[in-house]
Amino acid sequence: MDKLVSLAKRRGFVFQSSEVYGGLGSVWDYGPLGVALKRNIKNRWWQALVQGRDDIEGLDAAILMHPKVWEASGHVGGFSDPMVDCRACKARFRADKLGDARCPQKPSKVPGEHAACDLTEPRQFNLMFKTFMGPMEETASVVYLRPETAQGIYVNFLNVLNASRQRIPFGIAQIGKAFRNEITPGNFIFRTREFEQMEMQFFVKPGSDDEWFERWRDIRMAWHVDLGLTPAKLRWHQHAPGELAHYAKAAYDIEYEFPFGWQEIEGIHNRTDFDLSRHQEHSGKKLEYFEQATNERFLPFIIETSAGADRVMLTVMADAYREEIVDGETRVVMGFQPAIAPIKAAVLPLVKKDGMPEIARELFHDVRRRVPAFYDDAGAIGRRYRRQDEVGTPWCITIDGDTITQRSVTIRHRDSMAQDRVALDQVTAWLGERVGE
Ligand code: GAP
Repeated sequence: MDKLVSLAKRRGFVFQSSEVYGGLGSVWDYGPLGVALKRNIKNRWWQALVQGRDDIEGLDAAILMHPKVWEASGHVGGFSDPMVDCRACKARFRADKLGDARCPQKPSKVPGEHAACDLTEPRQFNLMFKTFMGPMEETASVVYLRPETAQGIYVNFLNVLNASRQRIPFGIAQIGKAFRNEITPGNFIFRTREFEQMEMQFFVKPGSDDEWFERWRDIRMAWHVDLGLTPAKLRWHQHAPGELAHYAKAAYDIEYEFPFGWQEIEGIHNRTDFDLSRHQEHSGKKLEYFEQATNERFLPFIIETSAGADRVMLTVMADAYREEIVDGETRVVMGFQPAIAPIKAAVLPLVKKDGMPEIARELFHDVRRRVPAFYDDAGAIGRRYRRQDEVGTPWCITIDGDTITQRSVTIRHRDSMAQDRVALDQVTAWLGERVGE
């Protein structure tokens, strides 16, 4: 993880937020390559769920919502973690995760194990960020930063249904920011206080929910495998009855084996009609669905698939990172799938003379009209290849002496380091075919 975090900063994937002021706890900024990688992941999710299916519609609901939404959803009353403080060192821990925590006193131990430790009784701590709407900072104007995107979908269920003329079963998908005042965030972008979710809520007829739940489990696991994640590092975790969220009839997490252990990257939940019935009750508005074929009215059950975009990005980075010894030197490679690699191709003139930079520049302009590309003429060619390996660029295109005489280039493959000769005027099409763009 240390190597990954340092590479992420050095190469412009992820920076600490407000770093010049010493940073802000567990809030991160995405640099040029990070924003490209995360966007590629989100686009792929959108393509699989919205663009590629005719039974799911997209939505982009606001972050700020009516405060009653969070009363109805159960977040005001119950979205809390038990917290303990240490009166001696002033550190704060999650009471239910004390065994995994480390006391800041030296030598590092589990909180409570030092003679000096003085822990409070656990208290419930609500994870929602509060702010005020309008000029008055008073109770009546409290609004929350949403802790999940899902509620924006539930309260828009009938709007989307009527506007799209979908029929049940159908889904609504959205990607957006969520905020949680986590007590113990950490592990880089794994658990942060501001993050992005990719959530899809699938509305089904009660009775067909178990079948749809299984279908969505299969679809979502296949999506992660398709992203290029190592299948042996993915597994299911079924929530035991005592572990289930208040809204869930059944829940499975997709877990990945990170350097810090197996952890959840996505949750699939059968939320029954809990959310719609709560919003119906609290708003006083009917949220039922009318099924023409059977003349029945009912509240649909909801199957939810909920993944964190930042967390999937960390998973992709952790899975892609590898070190190899080549000619006695360590080569660091980010083995991203070409479709999600932030840069698809680098154009490199072998030397800065003999007309090579001119041809390289021209090719670079052609290539980047089709795929994200990078131009680099600084330093020895071997070092330039290594720089691209480290950010996961699948192909390096070198303009050399033969380009001048034979109008062909060398294309070097990141993973095998094998080199092909390709005609200069075929390079863009060659890349397009491989990236699928
Ligand atoms: N709507 C259901 C829901 O929000 P969740 O299990 O609390 O369920 C779903 O969150 C996903 O959101 C998680 O699997 C994770 O990928 C991501 N996530 C949750 N909290 C996060 C945090 N503090 N930082 C980064 N990602 C988070």
